[in-house]
Amino acid sequence: MTYLNTLRLGAVCFAFFNSTVWAEAPPQVDQAALNQLLAKDRLAAFEQAFEVGDEITEATYTLEDGAGAAVAPGQSFTRLPRADRTGAGEWAMHFPTREGGPQAQSCIACHAAPLANGAGPMAVNVAVDPLHTGDPAQFLERNTLHLFGLGAVQRVAEEMTMDLHAIALQAADRACSDQSAVTLDLETKGVSFGKITAQPDDAGAECTATLDRSAVEGVDPDLVVRMFGWKGNHATLRAFARNAAHNEMGLQAVELVGEKDGDYDGVTGELSVGDVTAVTIYMAALERPTSLLELADLGLHELTQKERARIERGQTRLVQAKCTSCHVPSLPIENARFSEPSAVPGFAEDTLPDGSDAMAQGLYAQAPVWFDLTGDQPNNRIEQADGSILQLGSFPKRGDNGAELTWYSDFRRHDMGPGLADPVDAFGFGASVWPTRSLAGVGSTGPWLHNGHATTLRDAILAHGGEAMASKQAFLAMEEPAQGELIAFLENLVIVNLDPEEEEH
Ligand code: HEC
Ligand code: HEC
Repeated sequence: MTYLNTLRLGAVCFAFFNSTVWAEAPPQVDQAALNQLLAKDRLAAFEQAFEVGDEITEATYTLEDGAGAAVAPGQSFTRLPRADRTGAGEWAMHFPTREGGPQAQSCIACHAAPLANGAGPMAVNVAVDPLHTGDPAQFLERNTLHLFGLGAVQRVAEEMTMDLHAIALQAADRACSDQSAVTLDLETKGVSFGKITAQPDDAGAECTATLDRSAVEGVDPDLVVRMFGWKGNHATLRAFARNAAHNEMGLQAVELVGEKDGDYDGVTGELSVGDVTAVTIYMAALERPTSLLELADLGLHELTQKERARIERGQTRLVQAKCTSCHVPSLPIENARFSEPSAVPGFAEDTLPDGSDAMAQGLYAQAPVWFDLTGDQPNNRIEQADGSILQLGSFPKRGDNGAELTWYSDFRRHDMGPGLADPVDAFGFGASVWPTRSLAGVGSTGPWLHNGHATTLRDAILAHGGEAMASKQAFLAMEEPAQGELIAFLENLVIVNLDPEEEEH
């Protein structure tokens, strides 16, 4: 990598080569400074957060900066979980409890393929041991996910959650007014999450109802749609980011541990509240994945008539094999404004994990840093011949305030059968249960599946079982060239960065 990158922070302005180790402290931003900017110019606050988030995710953190943790005496990094290390301040004694690592100095050390913020090769797979079994046979293996277009993913999950909560409330209201049990379908954006039943408690002026959640499907009983991580165990980008910084790099955010040194590395204040906001906004506003068909339509990629026809037939095959029953091609977003912090119950935090009050830390759900998913993303803005700007990094508009997310997921969990099971059920909802993995960008993110063990897209399809068994069999029943067409369609779902200074590797 040889390109020159310019970093601007307040009055300080300097340039560095991307491969250079940080001579000075990594970039930082105060939440208070972001809030001040926000009061004057919301776009400036967004851009500042995006820029600092970009630098933080690229920066190489040293021990002095707070990377690493006291794994064992004289050992600051580990590629394997060390639940056996139970001495004072060692791996098993850190807070919050470690899942794995630390094993890296930067986010893009893993998120690198085919370009920065992308997925990762098998070589940087992560082993985690959330239950601290200390038994390699029970470690969970995870392949690195890409980070593109994730703001829209959180928005869809937020809107689905609001709908599901509203249905539960409606069931309770009706049960009270009818004075009998009421069962309602939990359906949002055309996706079914089972049913919920409300049973009225003792009648009285203030009727309450008890909710029976036993028929809820594909989501946690609290009806919060969690889409981040292969397992879907985090609702927000913010929570994922601070968790990743802690587990993968040993960077402990202040909002996670306060002023304490939870990983006993002798450094505190490793990531400020503003830093975590910046990383969150950056990931939320990264360009969306695209497709070769879309690029060809825009004159940005060459496809022969034959190639185009093959991809288009593949799209039909995906429907024919009922892959789209889970990999739902696209979902609507009613309100395309991504806000950090979120105001949606289940996504908003009144109290941060360190026990501090979110507002006291400058995080106001009513005055968030925000941007428009249909136009504010800085990357993949392409100047066209007539001088107009094509915003390929943004999501297509839908109605006055909405957007369309082409993500090939139904945002719910499915049992994928024993072949795709984790060795242990670490999260309590089934070792073989996973939220439908997005296919957006899947042509650029191999190897595939949660452990990265599928070396071809065909391998990934053949590993499907459980609820996807019939769909896999429909694929296998297809005669050539149909199978190849389906795969050609998947290969056409790509991630590209067309900004001139960005270098692919
Ligand atoms: C050691 C490799 C590694 C490093 C370093 C790393 N990640 Fe990741 N990242 C992963 C893996 C593996 C996953 C999938 C984890 C899972 O499913 O539980 C992932 C998943 C994610 C996701 C979830 C994406 C999605 O669509 O669900 C986010 C967000 C993320 N990482 C952000 C970050 C940030 C921010 C940093 C730097 C602070 C970082 N990562 C550093 C390996 C890494
Ligand atoms: C029952 C729901 C369901 C059906 C039906 C289904 N999938 Fe999947 N798909 C998933 C889930 C869940 C995953 C993630 C599994 C894992 O990583 O363990 C996945 C993963 C994938 C992946 C790997 C994605 C990646 O980033 O690694 C591909 C490719 C894929 N599916 C294609 C297909 C195709 C093609 C079909 C139709 C033949 C299909 N799927 C049918 C749920 C489904």
